[in-house]
Amino acid sequence: MTSNTTKEKDRSEKTDNMPIGLVKPCTKTESLGKRIAELIPGGVNSPFRSFHEVGGQAIFLDRGKGSRVFDVDGNQFIDYVGAWGPAILGHAPQAVIDAVKGTIDKGPLFGAPHELELRLAETLVEALPSVDMVRFVNSGTEAVMSAIRLARGYTGRDKVIVFEGCYHGHSDSTLANDRIKHSSGVPDGFAGSSIQAEFNNLASVEECLEKHSGEVAAVILEPVTGSMGVIEPHPDFLPGLRSLCTKYDALLIFDEVLTGFRLAWGGAQNLYGVEPDLSTFGKTLGGGMPIGAYGGRREIMNCLMPIGKVYQAGTFSGNPLTMAGGLAILGELKNKQIYQTLENRAKRLFSGLERVLEQIEQEQGKRPPIQLQRVGSMFTVLFVEAPVKNFNDARKIDEKLFAKFFHHCLEGGVYLPPTAVDAACLSSEHSEEDIDRTIEVMGAGIRSIFE
Ligand SMILES: Cc1ncc(COP(=O)(O)O)c(C=O)c1O
Repeated sequence: MTSNTTKEKDRSEKTDNMPIGLVKPCTKTESLGKRIAELIPGGVNSPFRSFHEVGGQAIFLDRGKGSRVFDVDGNQFIDYVGAWGPAILGHAPQAVIDAVKGTIDKGPLFGAPHELELRLAETLVEALPSVDMVRFVNSGTEAVMSAIRLARGYTGRDKVIVFEGCYHGHSDSTLANDRIKHSSGVPDGFAGSSIQAEFNNLASVEECLEKHSGEVAAVILEPVTGSMGVIEPHPDFLPGLRSLCTKYDALLIFDEVLTGFRLAWGGAQNLYGVEPDLSTFGKTLGGGMPIGAYGGRREIMNCLMPIGKVYQAGTFSGNPLTMAGGLAILGELKNKQIYQTLENRAKRLFSGLERVLEQIEQEQGKRPPIQLQRVGSMFTVLFVEAPVKNFNDARKIDEKLFAKFFHHCLEGGVYLPPTAVDAACLSSEHSEEDIDRTIEVMGAGIRSIFE
């Protein structure tokens, strides 16, 4: 046995024996938290990593392995943030680590075509009937920004229909009307070119298309939402959007940055059998390496420079390390029936939580105002009376109750996204024991709130 594998074995044995939850005092976390807040705004490089919605100091992580993350003070948590989506095989998956290690020695970056980007493009095109060609970029934001520019260039139209509460990253044109992550610094002009419709409401889309007939380049949406609670589209919603876009000559763009290769092989478009004109990907696709991708029909993609007139570029786009990470994770996802495992675990979690809610209802004569909403391995526990089907419903979610629940879970060793609405993500490394422990911790949290 090499010294490296001995170290890994030692580490996992230590991990198995470590208690779960906020057991050790967080002295190092507090001290590093104060130092980082002096140097990086809010102490984070992306706002929702901070605990500003739930209160308190964000946990400061040292490492992750499988379903667990470990903080700098030695506390261990069952993780459902999943790196905000990408960690579908859990943390530090061996296949990705081996692929990246095997690639870096040849040089991390060339700025010229190489075989790994060809192979990843082939895998995507094979997985997705709607995609003939693809471009790789470095983040989901870049993928969406580029897809929208391409749609505008292809159609010669400026307006884009977006849905209230859908998140598409932080580019100006999609942030302009974002009422959750509303930002100053976005010129008013951007708001004028994006028109808002209501999720799960085809009539609201048709009204916009009719009102702006001949001006709409694209309709863009998350086919399953992840930032206003996990909302499944009504059965007629995605097919209806497909027909409306064809009728009004607008492109349909599925933003599959979160859902792509997480909900199913390919993504939501394969799960629901609806083909968009363009799609965006990111997160899971890179195996933890920074990635974005967009793709679609050949005649649209060929509008990109150097063939066509739409500009998009990037020094790090398609870099070998990211491509190697992507090939490794897709190889695992394709060959190991991961989606069935994820579905089984998610079902187990939700039936356990449902049992807790039923028991409380029997004892107290009233069901706690909680909606359990999930599609595949994306889930949310929403503190609200009625099912959330669109942004108006999501606005009724009680953030204060969620904050209590969040901290109860954290203390018990269950780490959730620190916001009341963002999708929690399961990985194939969450064992049945992890799930049962999670039900216990979450159940006790719910009881403590509604007693
Ligand atoms: C649906 C969706 N689109 C786009 C993005 C932006 O991706 P990134 O954070 O990689 O820029 C996200 C990120 O959360 C997302 O969930």
